[in-house]
Amino acid sequence: MNADMQDIKSLLGQSLTHRYLTERFLQFIDKHHIQGVLSSLSRITEEDAVELFQQRLGYVLNDRTRLRMVTVLMDFLCECECLKKEGKFYVLNDRKDPDLKLSGDESGMVREMFKGQAGFFDRCVAYADKFLRGSSPLFSFDGSTTLIWEAFLGNAEFSFARGVLINLLFSGRTGNARVLDLCYGPGFGILQMQERSPEIEVTALDFKDIFIEQARGRIRNPESVQWINATLWEGFGSPLPFNNGSFDIVFFACADPYIPYELRQYVYRDIFRVLRKGGSLGILSHSYPDAGLQYVKDSWVRRGILCHDFFEGVCKGWNGFHDAGESINLFEAVGFIIDTVMLNASVWKIDKP
Ligand SMILES: C[S@@+](CC[C@H](N)C(=O)[O-])C[C@H]1O[C@@H](n2cnc3c(N)ncnc32)[C@H](O)[C@@H]1O
Repeated sequence: MNADMQDIKSLLGQSLTHRYLTERFLQFIDKHHIQGVLSSLSRITEEDAVELFQQRLGYVLNDRTRLRMVTVLMDFLCECECLKKEGKFYVLNDRKDPDLKLSGDESGMVREMFKGQAGFFDRCVAYADKFLRGSSPLFSFDGSTTLIWEAFLGNAEFSFARGVLINLLFSGRTGNARVLDLCYGPGFGILQMQERSPEIEVTALDFKDIFIEQARGRIRNPESVQWINATLWEGFGSPLPFNNGSFDIVFFACADPYIPYELRQYVYRDIFRVLRKGGSLGILSHSYPDAGLQYVKDSWVRRGILCHDFFEGVCKGWNGFHDAGESINLFEAVGFIIDTVMLNASVWKIDKP
């Protein structure tokens, strides 16, 4: 691990980004009087909250994305101990601000060290109220947003986690591995894989060609990569344009939350199909904080993930993070064997037997 990675690891250990995001979310909740609205009833169900937000805040909660944002918001308030869950009811708790507020220096450090991430989430949360009132998504995957995605996805935390995943996938492998980078985006994954194993054979596929120039410009050896024309794949829900057993490794980072909910099993079955026997799928995606604290244990990480889920909800196609237990059931139903689940269930290596 180099010095930069050590610095990042130590900053991540202090949960600075999670604390920064938590403050932003609590500011959003204060600014839009959300707790005040909720406190008009002493015990409320999630349906009551939806009703109150529609009547009192003018929110238009008529689709899965926006309704899900309400669930995430209520779970976040519980995680911050502003609400308590009793069966299907939420009960107001005396507001305790989560301990450990960021100092001015720490906020400055987050903005500097994690600027792509902090800037992206600042813009998302600033738009969330408008989005909940029915405005269209803030960012989608089109030619006008590639720089925004690049600044966000190149952040130090994701790079660290990609590095961990790449080490897991490649250690102990001999010879050239045939790797599919599924949803390569701005190319950070290919760059990190080429840095780790210069001889690697990567096939790069995304559902649009909008990132190809960025990705080609970023990586070490663009000529060694097989770039698949996006016209050959219509995205999640259509079959991957490869024969059965084509790859040793499928690398799938930060894209699981964009799979439409009802297509998740289909997508993982198709990834299973294109892997050879003994091949591995590496997934980088947070898991939704689980009630039993079995998978996502750290309380700042739990809050940070809920913030991330809510904020990125304003982006087109966001379907959110999934419960790790449900993901395990799905992967096993498809035929995968779970090899490793780590870092609060955000880094996954699962194998095709
Ligand atoms: C958040 S980016 C992650 C990019 C890259 N893997 C990384 O780690 O930086 C999400 C990726 O999912 C892709 N994506 C979004 N919606 C999709 C869809 N409906 N079908 C297929 N890919 C999609 C985007 O093009 C983008 O590459």
